[in-house]
Amino acid sequence: MSAIEGGAIGGGLDARSSVLRLEGTERTYPGSPPVRAVRGIDLAVSAGDYLSLMGRSGSGKSTLMNVMGLLDRPTAGRVLFAGADTVRLPDRHLAAVRGHGIGFVFQSFNLLPHRTAAENVALGLGYQGVPWRMREPMAVAALEAVGLGHRATALPGKLSGGERQRVAIARAVAGKPRLLLCDEPTGNLDGVSAEMILGLLDELNTTGLAVIVVTHDHAAAARARRHLLMSDGVVTEAVLADTQRGSQAPVAPQAAGALGE
Ligand SMILES: Nc1ncnc2c1ncn2[C@@H]1O[C@H](COP(=O)(O)OP(=O)(O)OP(=O)(O)O)[C@@H](O)[C@H]1O
Ligand SMILES: [Mg+2]
Repeated sequence: MSAIEGGAIGGGLDARSSVLRLEGTERTYPGSPPVRAVRGIDLAVSAGDYLSLMGRSGSGKSTLMNVMGLLDRPTAGRVLFAGADTVRLPDRHLAAVRGHGIGFVFQSFNLLPHRTAAENVALGLGYQGVPWRMREPMAVAALEAVGLGHRATALPGKLSGGERQRVAIARAVAGKPRLLLCDEPTGNLDGVSAEMILGLLDELNTTGLAVIVVTHDHAAAARARRHLLMSDGVVTEAVLADTQRGSQAPVAPQAAGALGE
């Protein structure tokens, strides 16, 4: 049985199921004037959660994903991964937490063009410190899990868009992360390929993997069980009653004016 938990806003998590927790998290880009891209967000993500993140262009979605993915540090507040505060970790240690715990999928696949599908996945395992002898069998197993075992030796240029994204997902999950962050994973795909990718995310989520998907597509967002809306750096969580959209509960009520200009 996987520990799938419903998504109450923020609370009631024990250390085992807590994957990610943001506490008053901010990200301001310096400049004149500074850009307050992420403003005072409180959010808890548990094992088995599935969240969508929607919002206009420039609302701060990618900035928030970078902070949640430990690719970027907040300028204020805390980011806890598996219960541990990451904010003061040295870069090397932060990279190790990220490498072992978090997978990333992007709109543009981000595969190396002159490496085969299996090599792309194996390189990702290399960054996680997996010994090289184990990388190839693990990469092939990950490709088989996304239905691409037979294309392991193909270069990305010889694969369809949907297949490339499946390779990217295999790369993201080969090392068994706890959190999968997807920024517009179906943005470059046709409807059939997009449906296949979303089906794969659903399947991965049922194993207990926490999934967060940035999307502009309402049908893709509807696959998630929790729905975040971002506007001007502030996140609200929409409470959906079964098939109906309901009211919106603020996730970051203190957001406005939280940082000095
Ligand atoms: N490196 C940066 N330096 C300064 N400002 C930035 C930087 N990156 C993003 N911004 C600004 O931060 C705000 C949020 O940008 P972000 O890329 O997070 O938006 P987004 O919601 O992902 O948009 P999109 O849907 O277009 O991808 C925008 O005003 C953007 O111009
Ligand atoms: Mg973006």
